[in-house]
Amino acid sequence: MTAPDTQPKKLFIKTYGCQMNVYDSDRMADAMAGEGYVAAAGPEEADLVLLNTCHIREKASEKVFSELGRLEALRAERQAAGGADMLIGVAGCVAQAEGEEIVRRMPGVDLVVGPQSYHHLPEMVARAIDRPRDLTAREAATRAAGDGRVATEFALAEKFALLPRPNREAVRARGLTAFLTVQEGCDKFCSFCVVPYTRGAEVSRPVEDVLEEARELVAAGVMELTLLGQNVNAYHGLDGDGRPVGLGALLRRLADIPGLMRLRYTTSHPRDMDDELIAAHRDLEKLMPYLHLPVQSGSDRILKAMNRRHTRADYLRLIERVRAARPDMAISGDFIVGFPGETDADFEATLSLVREVGYASAFCFKYSPRPGTPGAGLPDQVPEDVKAGRLARLLDLTTAQMRAFGRASVGRTMDVLLEKKGRLPGQLGGRSPYLQAVHLAAPESLIGTIQKVEIVAAGNNSIEGKIVTDLEPKSGSLVESSAA
Ligand code: 5AD
Ligand code: SF4
Repeated sequence: MTAPDTQPKKLFIKTYGCQMNVYDSDRMADAMAGEGYVAAAGPEEADLVLLNTCHIREKASEKVFSELGRLEALRAERQAAGGADMLIGVAGCVAQAEGEEIVRRMPGVDLVVGPQSYHHLPEMVARAIDRPRDLTAREAATRAAGDGRVATEFALAEKFALLPRPNREAVRARGLTAFLTVQEGCDKFCSFCVVPYTRGAEVSRPVEDVLEEARELVAAGVMELTLLGQNVNAYHGLDGDGRPVGLGALLRRLADIPGLMRLRYTTSHPRDMDDELIAAHRDLEKLMPYLHLPVQSGSDRILKAMNRRHTRADYLRLIERVRAARPDMAISGDFIVGFPGETDADFEATLSLVREVGYASAFCFKYSPRPGTPGAGLPDQVPEDVKAGRLARLLDLTTAQMRAFGRASVGRTMDVLLEKKGRLPGQLGGRSPYLQAVHLAAPESLIGTIQKVEIVAAGNNSIEGKIVTDLEPKSGSLVESSAA
C-alpha cells in the first residue's frame, strides 16, 4: 500500500567521501525540502534514496555499485510486500565520471546527477516519478540519454545561484559548525587525481554570495564555519566592484561578522599559500591555528612525476613561514605511497619529511590508479604488497605523531567550542582550536559556548579537559560544579 498523499515524502542521502559532499548533501536535502521531502532515518523508510558518491580512489567508487545492488533488492522486497516505491539516485563524483554507464550497468537507477547539476534535482525527481522503470537494460541504455535521467553538465555558477538556502531550523538541526563551499573544481591536474575531471575547472563564488550565506548561517546559530574548496586557497571570487579577492581577504571580511566565532578552511595547495593568507593567520584571532596542507610525497622526483609543481624544499619553507606567522599552527597533511616509480629511497624521503614537519594529523593513502588520469598510464606501477608495507610504516609514524600532539596538549589551557552532549552522562563534547575532539564534564546549558579548558589527559583519538572559565565567581566556579 502506498502512503496517503498527506504524508510527507522521505529522503535518505548516503554521503561518501569529502566534506564537499557533506555540504552538497545538505544542499540537496534543502532543495528537496522545497518539494515536501523530510529526512528519513534509513533507506528502509525512504521514498527517495540518493548516494552522494566519491571517485577519488578505486575502493570508494566500487562501493557505489554494491550499495546500488543492495538498494534495488530492498526496493524489490518492499514492493513484493505491497509497500511503497523507492526512487534510487546517484549523485557526486561517480555520477559525474560514469554518467550513463551507471544506468547501463544498473537500469533500475532512476537518476544520475553530477555535482554541478544539483539545482535540477527536483525536476529530475518529478520526471523519475512519472517514468516507467521496467525497461530492459538495452532499452534503458538507449533511452538514458534522452529521458532526462542523467544530468552531468558543468554549469557551476548556475548551481550556486539556483540552489535554495537552508531554512533556520534545518541549519539549527545540523549543529554549531557548518561547511560553506566557496570554491569548486581544480586546475592543478596532479597526475594521480580525478578531481579536475569530475569537478571541472576552478570556479570561485562571488564574495557577496559567500558573505550572505555566512551571515544566514550565523543568524541561525552557527558559530564555526569551515570554508570548502577542492583547492580552497586558490579562491579568487569577485567583490561588488568586480575585483578578484583572495582567500586571506575573504577570511578578513568573514571575521567581521558578529557572532561568527571561528573560521577554518580546507583543502589547500602549497602553491596557492600566499602572503595574504599567511598574514591572515597572524592577524585574525577567529582563524583557527590548523592548516591542512597536503604534500603527497617527500621526494622531489615523485613530486615532479605527480605534477605537484612544488618541491620538498618549497613545502618545508612554507611550513616555516606559516609557523613564523602563527607559532602554534597545527599542520595536517595528505600522503600517497606507491605512486608509479616510487623507490625505497623516495619513500624514505617521505618519512623524513614527516619527521621534519611533525604533523598533528595525517591522511595516508595507497596510490590508486584512476582511469583517465596521466598516472594510471605510467610505467613502473608499484606492486600492491610494497604499497601496503609502505602504508603501514607511514601510518605508524603519523599515528605516533598524532598521539604525541595530543599528549603535548596536556597541561595547556585552550578555548573549546562545546558542541554537543558527550558519550557519558554529564559529559560534553567539543573541539579545540587544533580540531582535536575534547571531552569534559559540564552542564548541558554550556552547549553553544566557548570555554577556557585545561587539558588534563590525552587518549588515542581525543583529549580530556576541565573548564577553567570563572563564569560565576560568587557562586563557586564551574570547575567545582562540573566535577561534582
Ligand atoms: N590514489 C590515492 N590517493 C589519492 N588521493 C587523490 N587521488 C588519489 C589516488 N589516485 C588522495 C590525495 C588527496 C586526497 C584527497 O586523496 O592524497 O590529497
Ligand atoms: Fe587533485 Fe588537489 Fe591536485 Fe587538484 S590540487 S588535482 S584536487 S590533488
